[in-house]
Amino acid sequence: MTELEKTLKEIALLDIVRAVFSCPYTKDEKYVKCTVRPIKDAEIFQFESFTKTQAFHENVSKDMLCEKFIFLLSNTFRQAEIFTQEYVYGLKISSKGKLLHNKRKNTQGVKQQTAENNRQKNHIIDLDNTPQVFTDIGIIGKDGKIINSRYDKYKQICRFCEFIDDVVKNDPREEYFIVDFGCGKSYLTFVCYHYMTKIAGKKVKITGLDLKEKVIEDCNALAKKYGYDNLSFLCMDIKDYCPDRRPDMVIALHACDTATDYALYNAYLWQTDYIFSVPCCQHEMNGKVKTEHFSLITDYGLIKERFCALATDALRGKTLEYCGYKTDVLEFIDEEHSPKNILLRSVRTTRIDRCKRGILLEEISRFENEFNAKLFLHSKIAENEYELEINGENFKFVIGKASMLLKDAMTLRSEVFGREQNYKKGSCRDNDDETALFVNVYTNGQTVATSRLIKLALPDEMLVGKIAVKSQYRKYGIGKAMLRELCKQAKNENIKTLHVIAQKQAMEFYEKMGFCVCGNEYEEESIAMIPMKKNI
Ligand SMILES: C[S@@+](CC[C@H](N)C(=O)[O-])C[C@H]1O[C@@H](n2cnc3c(N)ncnc32)[C@H](O)[C@@H]1O
Repeated sequence: MTELEKTLKEIALLDIVRAVFSCPYTKDEKYVKCTVRPIKDAEIFQFESFTKTQAFHENVSKDMLCEKFIFLLSNTFRQAEIFTQEYVYGLKISSKGKLLHNKRKNTQGVKQQTAENNRQKNHIIDLDNTPQVFTDIGIIGKDGKIINSRYDKYKQICRFCEFIDDVVKNDPREEYFIVDFGCGKSYLTFVCYHYMTKIAGKKVKITGLDLKEKVIEDCNALAKKYGYDNLSFLCMDIKDYCPDRRPDMVIALHACDTATDYALYNAYLWQTDYIFSVPCCQHEMNGKVKTEHFSLITDYGLIKERFCALATDALRGKTLEYCGYKTDVLEFIDEEHSPKNILLRSVRTTRIDRCKRGILLEEISRFENEFNAKLFLHSKIAENEYELEINGENFKFVIGKASMLLKDAMTLRSEVFGREQNYKKGSCRDNDDETALFVNVYTNGQTVATSRLIKLALPDEMLVGKIAVKSQYRKYGIGKAMLRELCKQAKNENIKTLHVIAQKQAMEFYEKMGFCVCGNEYEEESIAMIPMKKNI
């Protein structure tokens, strides 16, 4: 008997609560990881083998467990961690084929499913009344208790729903559209659907997204089985998803690495009111961090990794603030239930102004420069900011959404359309602001011009909002530069025709910019208006 066989034979006799096999022998190996959990009173063990995109299940009886472990460690994976209640057994096959093994106290993670665990009443989901679907998704066992190995996940999901509950109970809307990014097996998605419909009593439409085809197929089948008409799942990349209307809430629990950033960026682009995100593994900053003055942080691999993970979340928080989202960084759950325990809670506001954004940008940039850490989220936002010299003066053009730019835009609209022209409609906030794309221009610490692109019913047409330019900056050519930028942004959105309802006095300006009259003149608040359009 080899040392590996002898060791595994002894371990397989113990009360195993979980095992993880990893580190495939070759990079062509089909499976990247395999996890094992006991089911049916630990008479059977379920092996869940993961390819890059799918998971496959196999049930093995307890008396075949040792044989299966030996097979996996001899042929497929170099490394295993086998958990009992008390100990974690670590096994590793060296490159020379030698077995290295150790044993340490199991201080965290896998919990015994005790009566106490199941009786916890302070969970938002009442365990005495869980719906059958919780059994089908594999959280509740046939005995009505939380499945041992799912206890931590269940705790995370209940906590997540508590955070959602905090905002939902103080928000008067009756209907929510929620998108769950990187939903995986969709424990959170199903539990959240149950919470919203049965506990919060709201109408809800939830869409879950993940890259794993089979998992999405199974989730859709389950939603259908339970007649959850407003719960659906899509197999697609987060970055390609385009909702048919503005989601009220975006949730992302442990979406891998920059998948979290895509989720946050999308939520900002759509002007989603609430974002709840618990980030997962973070590699982006770790891969690029460099520092001249603080190498004590980056010299030690472990400290560097933790520092980068925390710094990434801090940068995400500040970038969301910069975009007009009031953001709190909260402890998600006790570390014993998940080491990934930071939750970013962001609530959309439109109160941020140029001055606050300036301070935030300085703070973010200082950090990025020190640590060479310009990360995905801020890079995407920064793509839409540039300086342009007009008439020998530098102007900053910023393109963005209402949460980031509306306050500055409103201040200038009130000044130009309201106080100067006494034109109420042009100076008021309206529903179009919520989804519009703004272009604001700044110089010398003030907002000098603003306009916006407004969606129309036809998908390839858009409306240019009235351009407001501060009086002392007229005749500079800022309006022209701004209109060019609006055309460019519209083209990026595959728009074919741009409309404008021009004040008659500005008709010549629009004609010079290629617009032509396309409707009859009319009066609005005693101002002559004329519809014009341009094919772009
Ligand atoms: C750690 S799992 C978390 C699953 C689930 N939210 C949970 O907490 O149980 C992360 C999931 O994100 C998905 N994912 C990663 N990148 C993605 C992307 N770009 N688009 C869609 N899903 C993605 C993965 O397929 C995986 O299922």
